[in-house]
Amino acid sequence: MPDPVLFEIKDKVALLTFNRPDKLNALNYAVIDRLMELLDRAEDDDGICAVIVTGAGDRAFSAGADIPEFTASMRKGTEIAVKDFVRRGQAMTARMEAFGKPIIAAVNGIAFGGGCEITEAVHLAVASDKAVFAKPEINIGIPPTFGGTQRLPRLAGRKRALEFLLTGDRFSPQRACEIGLVNRIVAHDALLPATFELASRIMRHSPGTAASIIAAATHGLNMSIEQGLQVESEQFARVAASANTREALDAWIDKRTPNYAGR
Ligand code: COA
Repeated sequence: MPDPVLFEIKDKVALLTFNRPDKLNALNYAVIDRLMELLDRAEDDDGICAVIVTGAGDRAFSAGADIPEFTASMRKGTEIAVKDFVRRGQAMTARMEAFGKPIIAAVNGIAFGGGCEITEAVHLAVASDKAVFAKPEINIGIPPTFGGTQRLPRLAGRKRALEFLLTGDRFSPQRACEIGLVNRIVAHDALLPATFELASRIMRHSPGTAASIIAAATHGLNMSIEQGLQVESEQFARVAASANTREALDAWIDKRTPNYAGR
């Protein structure tokens, strides 16, 4: 059996590749479970400073949850389907959203359903000019289940999101960029180099400070502004006394490039 998610480390970046190209990288339980294991590994490895996720083959980032597999779970009963399918997928996107190192999607093709929800959940996304997006769950009679009813309205605004959620229509990378789902679009052949370059521009900075910014922005978004400001000051307090922050400030004063530990 081929590994459902490929793992490679390059330039201190973990490249995770959904590896079911014959099934358009549909997210079966094995892919999700393996991805969760690899995220743990990437988090624990001090030699990894960022993560990029992409899809194998020339057609898809991911065509979403594995329909025959979760249909089988649904046939066993709603409780089983909620546990095996919904909670598993929600845990995956929540893990990515809250991941302590920058995580970037390189959207190389079809990003439907769960593939779109992963794009919503990660910190940044770069799309190939061949990418295509959709929220097609309504076509098969279910609402999105990996956070898609929650994150897209927060990212794009409620009415823009509801149009995609309620029509199931496909949309272009240009539209995905306009609504804030992806950061930029690049020529297909430049996708991975451009995504690695974006990661490297984050990795010039202190890893602890990057983690504090991710945590403040991600947690604060789902709180009142007062609570969010509290999170912001906690994140400041977390890094303020660190060696890397001291180094950043000293380097600025000395007019030199900072030399960070763990970078
Ligand atoms: N789950 C499981 N298998 C999937 C899949 C999914 N979400 N999406 C695609 N596949 C499989 C197909 O069953 C097919 O496998 P097969 O060759 O063994 O029959 C293979 O991937 C290629 O897909 P196919 O449908 O033949 O390609 P296409 O170009 O005709 O259509 C799509 C592409 C994306 C429009 C179509 O595959 C599709 O609608 N997929 C489902 C998308 C979706 O609803 N996702 C949300 C699920 S909640």
